This record gives sequence, C-alpha cells and structure tokens, in this order.
Amino acid sequence: MTLFDRVINRKSTSSVKWDNLEMVYGEKDLLPMWVADMDFQPPEAVINALQHRLAHGIFGYTVIPNSTHEAIQEWEKKRHGWEIEQSWILYNHGVVPSLSLAILAFTKPGDNILVQSPVYTPFFTMTENNQRNIINCPLHLENNRFKIDFQEFEDALKNNVKLFFLCNPHNPGGRVWNREELIKIGELCKKYNVIIISDEIHGDLVAAPHKHIPIASIDESFLKHVVTCIAPTKTFNLAGLQASSMIVPNKELREKLAKVQEQQGFHTLNSFGIVGMEAAYRYGGEWLDQLLSYIHENIQYVKEVLEQKLPSIKVMVPEGGYLVWLNCRDTGYSDEEIKNRLLEIGRLALEPGTKYGLGGQGFVRMNLGCPKEIVQDGVSRLIKALS
Ligand SMILES: Cc1ncc(COP(=O)(O)O)c(C=O)c1O
Repeated sequence: MTLFDRVINRKSTSSVKWDNLEMVYGEKDLLPMWVADMDFQPPEAVINALQHRLAHGIFGYTVIPNSTHEAIQEWEKKRHGWEIEQSWILYNHGVVPSLSLAILAFTKPGDNILVQSPVYTPFFTMTENNQRNIINCPLHLENNRFKIDFQEFEDALKNNVKLFFLCNPHNPGGRVWNREELIKIGELCKKYNVIIISDEIHGDLVAAPHKHIPIASIDESFLKHVVTCIAPTKTFNLAGLQASSMIVPNKELREKLAKVQEQQGFHTLNSFGIVGMEAAYRYGGEWLDQLLSYIHENIQYVKEVLEQKLPSIKVMVPEGGYLVWLNCRDTGYSDEEIKNRLLEIGRLALEPGTKYGLGGQGFVRMNLGCPKEIVQDGVSRLIKALS
C-alpha cells in the first residue's frame, strides 16, 4: 500500500468536488471524478509547515518573503531548466484570476483573444465576462491526439488578436506541446505582436518520455512576449490555498499587470498560501515523482480495462496531468444520453466534453488523481453506464 492508496473521506470539507454535487449535477450520491483536484494529501513537509504556521496562532497582514521567491526560482530551474529572475515574479490568488488580470492589463473591451478549443472553460468565460471576443482556432484530432494546424493558427492571428491563451499542457487531452510546436507558436505570436499568456499550471505533472518546456524559456526573443502562469496548487493538491505566480520578464508588461493589481487592491497572499507554496516547491520534488508514477499506473489501468471491456470508448492518454479525455463518440450515445446515463446508471460525475467548446462533443473528462480503489470503482461505473 502506498501513500496514494489511502482513501480519505473529503465530504464536509467545503470541497467543491465532493460537497457541491447536488448543485451542479442535481444529485448528491455520485462518485465525483470531475473537478481537477486530487483526493491525495500533499507532501508531509507541506502539512508540517502549515501546522507549524497554524500553531503560531497570529495571522496578521503578510509580506511574501524572499525565501518564497527563491523557492520558485529553484523549482523552475531544477524541474524545467528555466532560470528566472526574482524581479520577474508576481503573485496572484490563482491562474484563472491571472487570465482575467492579463485581459484587463493588456486589452480593451471588444478586443480579440485567441484560444484553441476544446479548452479549459475559464479561457472562454474570463474573456466573455470582461466583454472581449473569442477567436477560436480549434485543435485537430488526429489518431486520437490533438494537433495544431499552423496555417489556421496564423490565419486566426491575423484577426487583430491581442492575446493568445496557450494551455501547456493542454486541458483537456493533456498534450504537452513539444519544442518544435512551441517555437512555431512563439514565432507566429511575435510576428503578429500578440502577447502569449501561457497557462502552465499542469506543467509539473509531466513525466518522461514527455518534457514540459516553458515557452518563454525557449528563446530570448520570446521572453518579451510571454506571461507564464504557474502554481503549486495543481501539482501538490493545494487549490484551496489559492496561491499562484506569474513570471513576467518584460518590465512593461509586468508594470501593467501590477498596476491593475493595485487598482484591485491586491497586495499579497494569505499566510497559508505563502507557507504552503514555499514548502511545496522546496520539499515536494520526491513526492511529485512518486505521484507521477501512481498517476501513470491509473491511466494505464483505465486504458487497458476500457480496451478490453468497452472499446467503443477511446482513451486519449495524457502526456501530462491526471485528467483523461475519453472519446465516447463510437458508443452511439448523444451528449445528453451520455450525461443522463452517467448520472442515472453509473452514479458517476464526470466533466461533459461540451463544457470545453467546439471539439468537445461526444467526449467526457475523467479525473484520475485519486486512489486506485476509486479509479476501479469509477471505471466500472463508466462501463455500466455507457455499454
Ligand atoms: C488549464 C487550467 N488552468 C487553470 C486552472 C485553475 O487555476 P487556479 O485554481 O489557479 O485558478 C485549471 C484547473 O483545473 C486548469 O486546468
């Protein structure tokens, strides 16, 4: 039995995944494999650091210490080979707030923002909530793998696009964009003077043979054009601490972001966000390596069982992250039928593919960041529902 095999009851912990089922699915008694957090405790060193901070008992206004900036620098260098300067780092309560912040800092109402569907829903909602327009350049599905058509990508950029929301690794599907693809993206965005907001929140969750490459790290000339959004929250399961950072080498862009943060009254993170972030980056490496092998086993298990028992569902094996994108088009069920059967027969809460825009039809997204016992239960429910 490993650390990750332990099933921990998360009910009544204000967990959106476990405690908000009725609100979202209209039913309570479902197995939740939807929202992208994991059912694992973070590294022990993180829990200890938080407990130590809690025991102190005073939670006044905070300042983010140099040691936290250093922990981020060391992490990026060690895990992703990227040397960043301390002055490039800004903080935020999450990557989604950073998307919105970038919209406010770099665009005006009515401006165009490029996305590649199917993609993480807030890429659309943050754009629309701020009265900006979506330009969509959908990904292509080839041999059950997402690809970018670079001619289409360039044509899309010609629509007076101001920002491109890059999702790397991509959610859903888990494509880890490779060096060649990232160079093409970077060169084209440079050519059309488009700022790249690179959401790399799943970037730590990549294991060999794949390699996460921060797009900004590829070429000196990209540094000026990229805002990289990272967080320890997905990697170490700390989403409730709401702590993230933006790496912004371009001073002009950084000042624009900082100015909007000032306007919003944002100054710092909460006591636990600071401590959790630093401890995770400092001491979480070994835990993460173990997690990655556990997730790999979960993904392989789901793939093998479905190949044997329900081959009409095709698993897109993620190159990064713990979310699997399941192609259910050959089951013959409509999206409505898939949804109803999962709820009524499977008693299983998955994310419907339609949430991710064009290209998501006929897919569901399943979260495998959980103990094997839950994965096994989830797959049997899925098979029962969609056979
Ligand atoms: C691509 C992507 N970006 C951002 C987030 C959430 O970011 P945060 O919780 O830091 O706002 C998620 C969570 O699932 C995600 O998949």
